[in-house]
Amino acid sequence: MGEVITITSGKGGVGKSTLSANLSVALAHLDKKVVAVDFDIGLRNLDMILGLENRIVYDVVDVMEGRCNLSQALINDKKARNLYFIPASQTSDKNILDTDKVAKLIEDLKKDFDFIILDSPAGIEGGFEHSIFLADRAVVVSTPDVSAVRDADRVIGIIDAKSQKAKDGDEVIKYVVVNRLNQEMVKRGEMLSVEDVLSILALPLVGVVPDDRQIITSTNEGEPIFYNDKSLASEAYKRIARRILGEKVPMLNLEEPKGFFKRLFG
Ligand SMILES: Nc1ncnc2c1ncn2[C@@H]1O[C@H](COP(=O)(O)OP(=O)(O)OP(=O)(O)O)[C@@H](O)[C@H]1O
Ligand SMILES: [Mg+2]
Repeated sequence: MGEVITITSGKGGVGKSTLSANLSVALAHLDKKVVAVDFDIGLRNLDMILGLENRIVYDVVDVMEGRCNLSQALINDKKARNLYFIPASQTSDKNILDTDKVAKLIEDLKKDFDFIILDSPAGIEGGFEHSIFLADRAVVVSTPDVSAVRDADRVIGIIDAKSQKAKDGDEVIKYVVVNRLNQEMVKRGEMLSVEDVLSILALPLVGVVPDDRQIITSTNEGEPIFYNDKSLASEAYKRIARRILGEKVPMLNLEEPKGFFKRLFG
Protein backbone atom coordinates (compact mmCIF):
# COMPACT_ATOMS: atom_id res chain seq x y z
CA MET A 1 0.00 0.00 0.00
CA GLY A 2 1.21 3.45 -0.91
CA GLU A 3 1.77 6.33 1.46
CA VAL A 4 0.01 9.66 1.26
CA ILE A 5 2.23 12.71 1.72
CA THR A 6 0.44 16.04 1.89
CA ILE A 7 2.36 19.21 1.11
CA THR A 8 0.76 22.05 3.01
CA SER A 9 1.51 25.44 4.56
CA GLY A 10 -1.19 27.73 5.88
CA LYS A 11 0.08 30.87 4.22
CA GLY A 12 -0.18 30.96 0.44
CA GLY A 13 2.62 31.37 -2.03
CA VAL A 14 5.35 29.87 0.15
CA GLY A 15 6.37 27.12 -2.29
CA LYS A 16 4.03 24.14 -1.79
CA SER A 17 3.44 23.44 -5.46
CA THR A 18 7.11 23.86 -6.33
CA LEU A 19 7.99 21.37 -3.61
CA SER A 20 5.19 18.98 -4.63
CA ALA A 21 6.44 18.94 -8.22
CA ASN A 22 10.12 18.56 -7.48
CA LEU A 23 9.68 16.05 -4.67
CA SER A 24 7.47 13.95 -6.95
CA VAL A 25 10.00 14.03 -9.78
CA ALA A 26 12.85 13.28 -7.39
CA LEU A 27 11.07 10.28 -5.82
CA ALA A 28 10.22 8.98 -9.29
CA HIS A 29 13.91 9.17 -10.22
CA LEU A 30 14.66 7.17 -7.07
CA ASP A 31 12.58 4.36 -8.58
CA LYS A 32 9.40 4.99 -6.64
CA LYS A 33 6.08 4.94 -8.41
CA VAL A 34 4.60 8.34 -7.67
CA VAL A 35 1.37 10.16 -8.37
CA ALA A 36 1.11 13.89 -7.75
CA VAL A 37 -2.43 15.14 -7.26
CA ASP A 38 -3.31 18.84 -7.42
CA PHE A 39 -5.92 19.61 -4.76
CA ASP A 40 -5.85 23.33 -5.41
CA ILE A 41 -9.35 23.33 -6.85
CA GLY A 42 -10.08 26.35 -9.00
CA LEU A 43 -6.43 27.28 -9.43
CA ARG A 44 -4.21 25.10 -11.50
CA ASN A 45 -0.47 25.33 -10.85
CA LEU A 46 1.16 21.99 -10.45
CA ASP A 47 0.60 21.09 -14.11
CA MET A 48 2.60 24.14 -15.18
CA ILE A 49 5.47 23.47 -12.81
CA LEU A 50 5.61 19.88 -14.05
CA GLY A 51 5.33 21.05 -17.66
CA LEU A 52 2.25 18.88 -18.25
CA GLU A 53 -0.46 21.49 -18.81
CA ASN A 54 -0.83 20.68 -22.51
CA ARG A 55 -1.63 17.06 -21.76
CA ILE A 56 -4.68 17.65 -19.57
CA VAL A 57 -7.97 16.13 -20.68
CA TYR A 58 -9.64 15.11 -17.42
CA ASP A 59 -9.14 16.33 -13.89
CA VAL A 60 -9.53 15.11 -10.33
CA VAL A 61 -13.20 16.10 -10.08
CA ASP A 62 -13.96 14.26 -13.34
CA VAL A 63 -12.59 11.08 -11.75
CA MET A 64 -14.52 11.55 -8.52
CA GLU A 65 -17.73 12.30 -10.34
CA GLY A 66 -17.31 9.27 -12.60
CA ARG A 67 -17.00 11.25 -15.85
CA CYS A 68 -13.85 9.25 -16.59
CA ASN A 69 -11.98 6.39 -15.01
CA LEU A 70 -8.77 6.76 -13.08
CA SER A 71 -6.46 5.63 -15.85
CA GLN A 72 -7.98 8.15 -18.24
CA ALA A 73 -7.16 10.97 -15.86
CA LEU A 74 -3.61 9.87 -14.99
CA ILE A 75 -1.01 11.71 -17.04
CA ASN A 76 2.29 9.87 -17.32
CA ASP A 77 5.34 12.13 -17.37
CA LYS A 78 7.48 11.35 -20.40
CA LYS A 79 10.75 12.30 -18.71
CA ALA A 80 10.14 10.50 -15.43
CA ARG A 81 8.28 7.35 -16.41
CA ASN A 82 7.51 6.47 -12.78
CA LEU A 83 5.67 9.74 -12.31
CA TYR A 84 1.95 10.26 -12.88
CA PHE A 85 -0.12 13.35 -12.37
CA ILE A 86 -3.80 14.20 -11.79
CA PRO A 87 -4.64 17.87 -12.38
CA ALA A 88 -6.94 20.07 -10.31
CA SER A 89 -10.34 20.97 -11.60
CA GLN A 90 -10.81 24.55 -12.69
CA THR A 91 -14.31 24.79 -11.36
CA SER A 92 -15.10 27.93 -9.40
CA ASP A 93 -16.88 25.84 -6.74
CA LYS A 94 -14.18 25.35 -4.12
CA ASN A 95 -16.42 23.09 -2.06
CA ILE A 96 -17.00 20.58 -4.83
CA LEU A 97 -14.93 17.84 -3.18
CA ASP A 98 -16.88 15.16 -1.37
CA THR A 99 -15.18 13.40 1.53
CA ASP A 100 -16.25 9.87 0.55
CA LYS A 101 -15.23 10.37 -3.06
CA VAL A 102 -11.85 11.76 -2.06
CA ALA A 103 -11.35 8.76 0.22
CA LYS A 104 -12.26 6.35 -2.59
CA LEU A 105 -9.83 8.01 -4.99
CA ILE A 106 -7.00 7.92 -2.47
CA GLU A 107 -7.68 4.28 -1.59
CA ASP A 108 -7.54 3.41 -5.30
CA LEU A 109 -4.27 5.30 -5.77
CA LYS A 110 -2.72 3.62 -2.74
CA LYS A 111 -3.12 0.25 -4.45
CA ASP A 112 -1.04 1.31 -7.45
CA PHE A 113 1.52 3.81 -6.21
CA ASP A 114 4.31 3.94 -3.64
CA PHE A 115 3.69 7.61 -2.95
CA ILE A 116 0.66 9.84 -3.41
CA ILE A 117 1.79 13.46 -3.18
CA LEU A 118 -1.09 15.84 -2.48
CA ASP A 119 -0.51 19.51 -3.20
CA SER A 120 -2.84 21.38 -0.90
CA PRO A 121 -4.31 24.82 -1.58
CA ALA A 122 -3.48 28.00 0.35
CA GLY A 123 -5.56 28.67 3.43
CA ILE A 124 -7.52 26.23 5.50
CA GLU A 125 -10.80 25.98 3.61
CA GLY A 126 -12.10 23.89 0.75
CA GLY A 127 -9.58 21.40 -0.57
CA PHE A 128 -7.29 21.87 2.39
CA GLU A 129 -9.15 19.58 4.77
CA HIS A 130 -9.57 16.98 2.05
CA SER A 131 -5.87 17.06 1.36
CA ILE A 132 -4.91 16.42 4.99
CA PHE A 133 -7.53 14.05 6.24
CA LEU A 134 -6.03 10.92 4.71
CA ALA A 135 -2.42 11.96 5.05
CA ASP A 136 0.13 9.49 6.41
CA ARG A 137 2.70 12.24 6.44
CA ALA A 138 2.58 16.00 6.06
CA VAL A 139 5.32 18.32 4.92
CA VAL A 140 4.64 21.80 6.25
CA VAL A 141 6.33 24.43 4.10
CA SER A 142 7.22 27.81 5.55
CA THR A 143 9.27 30.72 4.40
CA PRO A 144 11.46 32.24 7.10
CA ASP A 145 9.10 35.03 8.09
CA VAL A 146 6.87 35.46 11.10
CA SER A 147 3.51 35.39 9.31
CA ALA A 148 4.28 32.21 7.36
CA VAL A 149 5.58 30.47 10.47
CA ARG A 150 2.52 31.47 12.47
CA ASP A 151 0.18 30.13 9.78
CA ALA A 152 2.23 26.94 9.55
CA ASP A 153 1.86 26.48 13.29
CA ARG A 154 -1.90 26.78 12.97
CA VAL A 155 -2.00 24.21 10.22
CA ILE A 156 -0.01 21.75 12.31
CA GLY A 157 -2.71 22.02 14.95
CA ILE A 158 -5.43 21.35 12.38
CA ILE A 159 -3.62 18.29 11.01
CA ASP A 160 -3.41 16.93 14.54
CA ALA A 161 -7.10 17.57 15.07
CA LYS A 162 -8.71 16.66 11.77
CA SER A 163 -6.75 13.90 10.08
CA GLN A 164 -8.13 10.39 10.00
CA LYS A 165 -4.96 9.16 11.70
CA ALA A 166 -5.59 11.54 14.60
CA LYS A 167 -9.17 10.33 14.83
CA ASP A 168 -7.87 6.74 14.98
CA GLY A 169 -5.59 7.68 17.88
CA ASP A 170 -2.56 7.60 15.59
CA GLU A 171 -0.42 10.49 14.43
CA VAL A 172 0.43 11.98 11.05
CA ILE A 173 4.21 12.13 10.64
CA LYS A 174 5.01 15.81 10.20
CA TYR A 175 8.09 17.65 8.98
CA VAL A 176 9.08 21.18 8.10
CA VAL A 177 10.65 22.52 4.92
CA VAL A 178 12.08 26.00 5.21
CA ASN A 179 11.84 27.51 1.74
CA ARG A 180 13.48 30.56 0.17
CA LEU A 181 16.20 30.92 2.76
CA ASN A 182 18.70 33.67 2.09
CA GLN A 183 21.69 33.05 4.31
CA GLU A 184 23.07 36.55 3.80
CA MET A 185 19.83 38.07 5.07
CA VAL A 186 19.84 35.74 8.06
CA LYS A 187 23.37 36.88 8.86
CA ARG A 188 22.30 40.50 8.71
CA GLY A 189 19.41 39.73 11.03
CA GLU A 190 16.86 40.53 8.33
CA MET A 191 15.39 37.05 8.08
CA LEU A 192 14.51 34.35 10.59
CA SER A 193 17.06 31.56 10.72
CA VAL A 194 16.17 27.88 10.32
CA GLU A 195 16.68 27.51 14.07
CA ASP A 196 14.21 30.35 14.73
CA VAL A 197 11.60 28.62 12.56
CA LEU A 198 12.15 25.26 14.22
CA SER A 199 12.00 26.70 17.70
CA ILE A 200 8.46 27.86 16.94
CA LEU A 201 7.21 24.86 14.97
CA ALA A 202 8.94 22.17 17.03
CA LEU A 203 8.94 19.62 14.22
CA PRO A 204 11.80 17.76 12.54
CA LEU A 205 13.39 19.52 9.60
CA VAL A 206 13.28 17.61 6.31
CA GLY A 207 14.93 20.26 4.17
CA VAL A 208 16.04 23.81 3.60
CA VAL A 209 15.61 25.22 0.11
CA PRO A 210 17.53 28.38 -0.76
CA ASP A 211 15.89 31.29 -2.46
CA ASP A 212 16.75 30.58 -6.09
CA ARG A 213 15.70 32.78 -8.98
CA GLN A 214 16.18 29.95 -11.43
CA ILE A 215 13.01 28.39 -10.00
CA ILE A 216 10.91 31.09 -11.64
CA THR A 217 12.63 30.59 -15.00
CA SER A 218 12.22 26.84 -14.76
CA THR A 219 8.50 27.15 -13.98
CA ASN A 220 8.05 29.45 -16.97
CA GLU A 221 9.83 26.91 -19.14
CA GLY A 222 7.75 24.05 -17.79
CA GLU A 223 10.71 22.04 -16.59
CA PRO A 224 11.04 21.36 -12.86
CA ILE A 225 14.21 22.83 -11.31
CA PHE A 226 15.08 19.21 -10.41
CA TYR A 227 16.59 18.85 -13.90
CA ASN A 228 18.88 21.86 -13.47
CA ASP A 229 22.09 20.40 -12.10
CA LYS A 230 23.56 23.85 -11.52
CA SER A 231 20.81 24.86 -9.10
CA LEU A 232 21.27 24.60 -5.36
CA ALA A 233 17.50 24.40 -4.94
CA SER A 234 17.50 21.34 -7.18
CA GLU A 235 20.05 19.69 -4.92
CA ALA A 236 17.93 20.65 -1.90
CA TYR A 237 14.83 18.95 -3.38
CA LYS A 238 16.83 15.82 -4.21
CA ARG A 239 18.03 15.61 -0.61
CA ILE A 240 14.49 16.07 0.71
CA ALA A 241 13.37 13.10 -1.39
CA ARG A 242 16.13 10.92 0.03
CA ARG A 243 15.26 11.96 3.58
CA ILE A 244 11.62 11.11 2.91
CA LEU A 245 12.88 7.63 2.01
CA GLY A 246 14.59 7.43 5.37
CA GLU A 247 18.16 8.15 4.32
CA LYS A 248 20.32 10.31 6.55
CA VAL A 249 21.52 13.09 4.28
CA PRO A 250 23.47 16.13 5.49
CA MET A 251 21.83 19.53 5.11
CA LEU A 252 23.05 21.62 2.20
CA ASN A 253 25.70 24.10 3.16
CA LEU A 254 24.26 27.46 2.20
CA GLU A 255 26.96 29.44 4.01
CA GLU A 256 29.59 30.01 1.35
CA PRO A 257 28.28 32.34 -1.30
CA LYS A 258 31.02 31.54 -3.87
CA GLY A 259 31.15 28.42 -6.00
CA PHE A 260 28.42 25.88 -6.38
CA PHE A 261 30.57 22.85 -5.66
CA LYS A 262 32.09 24.46 -2.61
CA ARG A 263 28.60 25.06 -1.28
CA LEU A 264 27.50 21.60 -2.16
CA PHE A 265 30.29 19.80 -0.39
CA GLY A 266 30.87 22.27 2.42
N1 LIG B 1 13.06 28.43 -3.32
C1 LIG B 1 12.50 29.35 -4.10
N2 LIG B 1 13.24 30.36 -4.61
C2 LIG B 1 12.68 31.29 -5.40
N3 LIG B 1 11.39 31.30 -5.78
C3 LIG B 1 10.59 30.33 -5.30
C4 LIG B 1 11.10 29.30 -4.45
N4 LIG B 1 10.07 28.47 -4.14
C5 LIG B 1 8.98 28.95 -4.77
N5 LIG B 1 9.27 30.07 -5.46
C6 LIG B 1 8.38 30.91 -6.27
O1 LIG B 1 7.37 31.40 -5.40
C7 LIG B 1 6.12 31.44 -6.05
C8 LIG B 1 5.09 30.63 -5.26
O2 LIG B 1 5.49 29.26 -5.31
P1 LIG B 1 4.42 28.08 -5.31
O3 LIG B 1 3.42 28.29 -6.38
O4 LIG B 1 5.18 26.81 -5.29
O5 LIG B 1 3.76 28.36 -3.90
P2 LIG B 1 2.42 27.74 -3.30
O6 LIG B 1 2.64 27.65 -1.83
O7 LIG B 1 2.07 26.50 -4.01
O8 LIG B 1 1.37 28.88 -3.64
P3 LIG B 1 -0.24 28.77 -3.47
O9 LIG B 1 -0.48 28.90 -2.00
O10 LIG B 1 -0.75 29.93 -4.24
O11 LIG B 1 -0.66 27.43 -4.00
C9 LIG B 1 6.34 30.93 -7.46
O12 LIG B 1 6.53 32.02 -8.31
C10 LIG B 1 7.62 30.12 -7.32
O13 LIG B 1 8.33 30.07 -8.53
MG1 LIG C 1 0.24 25.94 -4.96
